[in-house]
Amino acid sequence: MVSDVVGQEPWSPEAALRALEALPVEERLILPSLQRLQATFGYVPDEAIGTVAEFLNVSRAEVVGVLTYYHDLRQTPPPAVVVQVCVAEACQAQGVRDLVADIEREFGIALEAESHAGAVEFDKAYCLGDCALGPAIMVNGRLIGRCDVERVKAAVDAAQGVMP
Ligand code: FES
Repeated sequence: MVSDVVGQEPWSPEAALRALEALPVEERLILPSLQRLQATFGYVPDEAIGTVAEFLNVSRAEVVGVLTYYHDLRQTPPPAVVVQVCVAEACQAQGVRDLVADIEREFGIALEAESHAGAVEFDKAYCLGDCALGPAIMVNGRLIGRCDVERVKAAVDAAQGVMP
C-alpha cells in the first residue's frame, strides 16, 4: 500500500508548501512528497504538480510519472467512504473470494480496481499488512480483520454516520 486517504484540509499552495517543508530532508523525494500532500488534502490536485516540481527541483514530467504510476495516489477528491478490500494471497487463503462475492451482491457492484456504489468507493488492495487476520479490509483508513459482509456493512454505515 502506498498511502491512505485521510486528508481533509482544503487545497492551497501555501498549505502544500507547509506540508512539503515539514518533510524530513531525507524524504524530500517525489513519492514521499506526493504521499504527504495526499495525507494533507485527501488527494493530489493538478495544481500540486508544479508545486512539487519546483520544491524538489525536478521536472513536471517526473512528478506526473510518479503520480500516475501509483494507483493509491488520487488525483480527484475522495468520496465520503473508501473501502479497500485486500485480494492478495494470504487473504485469498482465508476466504476473500467469498467475501468479494458477498460484497458484490450486497452493494450491487463488480469489484474492480475501483468500483462505486453511490458515495462508497470500493478498491482492490494488495496486502493491507493484516495477513494473519484475513480477509482484511480498510474503511477510511481503519483496518478490519476477519471480515465478513456484515462487518463491511457495519463499517460502511459507521463511516456514513448511520446509527445501528
Ligand atoms: S494479504 Fe491481505 S492483508 Fe496481507
